[in-house]
Formats: sequence, C-alpha cells, structure tokens
Amino acid sequence: MKPEHSRRNFMKTSAIITGGILTSPFVLPKAYAAPDNHLKLALIGCGGRGTGAVFQAFETGHPIKLVAMADAFRDRLDGSLKPILDKYGAEKVVVPEERKFVGFDAYKQAIAEADVVILATPPGFRPPHFEEAVNQGKQIFMEKPVATDAAGIRRVLAAAEIAKAKKLNVVVGLQRHYQSNYRETIQRIHDGAIGDITGGQVYWNDGGVWVRERQPGQTEMEYQMRNWYYFNWLCGDHITEQHVHNIDVANWVKQGYPVKAEGTGGRLVRTGKEHGEIFDHHVVTFTYADGSVIHSECRHFPGAANRVDESFQGTKGKAYLSAGNHGNLSDWKGNAIYSHNRENDVNPYQQEHNELWDALFKGEYKFADAENAAKSTMTSIMGRYATYSGKVLTWEEALNGKVDLFPEKLAWDTSPKVLPNEDGYYPHAIPGKTQVI
Ligand SMILES: NC(=O)c1ccc[n+]([C@@H]2O[C@H](COP(=O)([O-])OP(=O)(O)OC[C@H]3O[C@@H](n4cnc5c(N)ncnc54)[C@H](O)[C@@H]3O)[C@@H](O)[C@H]2O)c1
Repeated sequence: MKPEHSRRNFMKTSAIITGGILTSPFVLPKAYAAPDNHLKLALIGCGGRGTGAVFQAFETGHPIKLVAMADAFRDRLDGSLKPILDKYGAEKVVVPEERKFVGFDAYKQAIAEADVVILATPPGFRPPHFEEAVNQGKQIFMEKPVATDAAGIRRVLAAAEIAKAKKLNVVVGLQRHYQSNYRETIQRIHDGAIGDITGGQVYWNDGGVWVRERQPGQTEMEYQMRNWYYFNWLCGDHITEQHVHNIDVANWVKQGYPVKAEGTGGRLVRTGKEHGEIFDHHVVTFTYADGSVIHSECRHFPGAANRVDESFQGTKGKAYLSAGNHGNLSDWKGNAIYSHNRENDVNPYQQEHNELWDALFKGEYKFADAENAAKSTMTSIMGRYATYSGKVLTWEEALNGKVDLFPEKLAWDTSPKVLPNEDGYYPHAIPGKTQVI
C-alpha cells in the first residue's frame, strides 16, 4: 500500500477516533418538536462532573430544559440540583419531585424522561446505563472511563454498534479530543510532520484524590458506593479512572490500540483500610502492532513530583502535549515545527458540549465516540491486568477476559464481590499470583 493511501485510511480512522465526522441527518424524535423547540435533558449521576456537565450544556445557550435527575443517593441529587437551579432558574430547571429518581434503578426512569442524557456515575455503571440510553434511543454525553473490566467493555462495544445503527450522537468526556492544542498538534503528526511515531511516554502522576470515610450504620454496599474510587468494580483503579486520558492520547497519536502490555505496580504509600483494593502506582509498557512502544506511568504519591502530559518520538522529530494547552513539535535538531498558540483556546469541557448541542439542534448525526472510548478504556484495563497479574497480556486475552467485577445483585443489603477482612482491610492484587482474566 502506498503511503498516501495508508495515510488517507489513517486519517479516516483518526477522524472517527476524534469523533468529528459522521455528518448525516438523524431522525428527530417526536419529543424534539416541543412547542418552544427545547430539548429535554436528564442527568444520571449527580456528582461533581455530572453537575459541571449540566452547567456546560446550559452555557451553550441553546434552549435546554433539565427535566429529570437520577442518583443512587438522595443527598447527592439534592446537592447537585441546588446550584443548577440557583444559576439557571425554574424555567430551565424543571425537576419536580416526581422526576427525582433515587436508587440503583433510577437511571431507567430518568433516561425515559429526556431527549438527551448525561451519564456521569462512577464508571462501573456506564455499561448498563449506556446500554439503556441506547435502547431507549437517546442522544448521549457520557463520561470516561466507560467501564472497569473487559466484560463491561464488551457491553459498551456492542451498544456502540447499535448507537451507530440508530444514528444516536455519542460524545464521551475524553475532552482532549475537543481541545484545540491536541487537535492541531495531532493532526500535524498524522500529516507526517515528525515522521512515523516510534515511541512515547504518557503520565498521570499526582498526589491522588478524596477519601469518603466509612460512616456508622452504612452497609458494605453503601460504603463502597460512597467511597467508590478505591473499589475496582466501580472505579477500575486510577490507571483507568484518570490515566485513561493520556493512554487515549497515545492511541489517538498511534491511530490504533496496543497488541501487548506488561507492567509493574503496587501499593507503597496509600495502604489504609479506606484505600480499598486499588494500587497507588502502575508502570506499563504498551507495544503496538508496528513494534513501537509507549511507556505509561501513573502514581498517587502525595509530596512527589507531579506530571500529567504526553511525549512522542518520531523518525523525523518529537512532540510534547499537555492539558495546559501545550502542543509542540520539533525536529531532532531542536528546530520548532509547530508551537500551539493557546490564546483563543476554549475550555474543552465547554467545547465538547458546544459541538454536541450544536449538532443536536441542527438535527445532525456527527459523533460516534463510544467505540474509541471503549477501546482506550480497554487499553487502561489491559494495563491494570498487566500490573495486577505481573504477566504479559495480549489485547485479545485482555478483551476476552472472563473476570466480571460487577456484583451479582445490586441492593443496599447485598455484598459486593470484594469484602474486607476482620480487621477492615481489603485484599489487593499480588503480581505473580493474582488471576485477572
Ligand atoms: N472528563 C474528566 O476530566 C472528568 C473529570 C472528573 C470526573 N470524570 C468522570 O465522571 C464520573 C463521575 O465522577 P465524579 O467526580 O462526578 O464523581 P462523584 O462521586 O462526584 O459523582 C458520582 C455520582 O454518581 C452517583 N452514583 C453512583 N452510582 C450510581 C448509580 N448506579 N446510579 C445513579 N447514580 C449513581 C453517586 O452517588 C455520585 O453522586 C467518573 O466516571 C469520572 O471518571 C471525568
């Protein structure tokens, strides 16, 4: 195959990955013909990010009404509704008591009330919630990551196909795809500015996140649901919950997904009962089909050096990218090839909503982000499988993994699969011993 042809194919794949391509009309559901032409929005998962996403939807300036909210916990729903109502008022925020849904099945009812849904629970619930939204034919904004194990990824991939067939727009909050320094710089990499990419390094090293302490009277299910970051069925570990952003950039630059992963990880400084089962560091080597290698590193060590960014090396030069709007390309002599001017850049959390809602109000089918999001989430899960097991894993082995972390039954008095010992500590993976797939 001539390079131009392969490049053209790459461009096509890349366009699909960036989610800005599939311009063709979708059939407006009847509900869209509301007398004042507004679209009805439901929020599923009323935490920090979901609340922020509703703000960003309203900030697009389109006629949107928030009509339903769902959360596992009533206090979280109330805590989200108040600032939204305070800012946007009762004309736009129309969530009466009968459209506040609480509990494990709340999502189904909230989704049914809306044209467009925001899915922003902890990622363990994304597969069933995405499936439901697709089955109900809704337009979707969903947060990353989109699952926490291979079983969940397979569900999301299957639902993504149905979403495409139904022409449902799906935007995923891997917002670097909507950030102009990433778009401009990676486009130039794909156009050959630094040659073929032979390697790279991607990092999310910082001090870690919140802990929600166990409260008297909580069942184990409630405790894990509140302190979700530290339990894999809900969070997927920080290599998935946070580092997916940087791993996804590597896949975007490489225009593909790794064929193999091997890694090292463990718990060094974050070892309390309240830290559940997750590791505090992972270092993974991802090998791609062309033999190129991406080094991935994430850690939660308070007081250590922070670094969240991506670097790549090509046959003709190198690239540096970060969420701080950096996008630099240079040749191997140090001459600048491209230096992103960040002056007029729009906040990517806003930009992803601007683009989604513009498309929705024009009746366009433009975004199919779910498949790439599932495969990038899978890449991060494959990394976790590698660090937990200490084994070298292929993409097929990881994607076909049989271990399903999700509880058999969801209720406040049923048990998640991972439980504390009599001293309150949770079992965690031991590389070399733990079976992950
Ligand atoms: N794109 C980004 O940069 C970014 C930033 C922050 C968070 N996120 C993602 O957003 C998601 C939510 O994170 P957050 O920081 O808002 O967490 P959060 O804990 O503040 O909010 C999650 C909410 O979901 C609710 N919830 C849990 N299970 C539920 C269920 N089954 N049904 C309905 N509601 C349920 C929780 O009670 C909580 O209110 C995560 O996937 C996270 O990775 C993305």
